[in-house]
Amino acid sequence: MKRIRTALTDMLEIAYPVIGAPMFLISYEDLAVAVSEAGGLGTIPLPNYRTIEALETGLSTIRTRTNKPIGVNIHLSGRFPWKEQLTACLNAGVSFFITSLGDPRLILQDVHANGGKVFADVVTLKQALNAAERSVDGLIAVSEGAGGHAGTIPVMVFVPYITSRVDLPVIAAGGISTGAQMAAALALGACGVVVGTRLIATPEAQASDAYKQALIAAGPEDIVFTDRVTGNPANWLAHSIQDFDTRPEIGSKRWLDLWSAGKSVAQVDDIKPAGAIIEELVCDYQKSMESLPPVQEDV
Ligand SMILES: Cc1cc2nc3c(=O)[nH]c(=O)nc-3n(C[C@H](O)[C@H](O)[C@H](O)COP(=O)(O)O)c2cc1C
Repeated sequence: MKRIRTALTDMLEIAYPVIGAPMFLISYEDLAVAVSEAGGLGTIPLPNYRTIEALETGLSTIRTRTNKPIGVNIHLSGRFPWKEQLTACLNAGVSFFITSLGDPRLILQDVHANGGKVFADVVTLKQALNAAERSVDGLIAVSEGAGGHAGTIPVMVFVPYITSRVDLPVIAAGGISTGAQMAAALALGACGVVVGTRLIATPEAQASDAYKQALIAAGPEDIVFTDRVTGNPANWLAHSIQDFDTRPEIGSKRWLDLWSAGKSVAQVDDIKPAGAIIEELVCDYQKSMESLPPVQEDV
């Protein structure tokens, strides 16, 4: 069995330092299982499940198909039944929690008692320092160009900016879909990567075929960063939101009818199984490492 060993793979007991992104209305059981079975860590965002019963059913489906580690994105805000969600996740052996809203201290003790880890999404150094003060186990540096709600600092700058100032493992997110990009992220000091946009173009992702084809057709020039849709800055496929302002009926269906994607659409050329994408990522990572020119004595 191949593996790439980092602080993250040791911490989560996975073969490769690759987290399949939690993506609203996209990452469900099929995608999470495929990524975890391929040696990464698959995740689901809990807002995908409207009731605790639906979440329990989803988690039990995952558990019948893989005993590998899995993760979730949990929103720790009063708008979500996060206590019940947490219990359901802990009962199903979820070992990785990504917090995006709210105070991670609310879940730290219970997750740790269950042997799990809590990482916080951050888009600024200030958020990283705050999360560190709250004793999270690690950070996800959500960088410029990421799918979904994104930051504004390029990954090349943001990862070393945080790792040099915060003594926590940092996972890089935003614009990573190939092994060369993963090698670059690890060279910057990240202990792993989150892959989102690339995994939408898979049979396992719960996205329409039109959405998947649009990712293949798009280039990074077609991605717009705007807060017009949700009130928070996020990246979107430009043509899918162009008439948003004149379609009031979209309302809560905005993540279904409007297509979020990151600038890594640049590297999305086909639809293939998530497992094949992870395998290719690892293979390309190895090749990229070997192709780097060494420093030579100039004789
Ligand atoms: C359609 C879509 C929905 C997303 N929804 C969520 C979400 O519900 N929770 C979350 O933590 N991140 C969400 N994200 C962000 C991803 O978890 C991840 O940070 C991002 O996709 C990484 O950048 P990349 O798309 O360039 O790989 C979403 C991303 C996309 C593309």
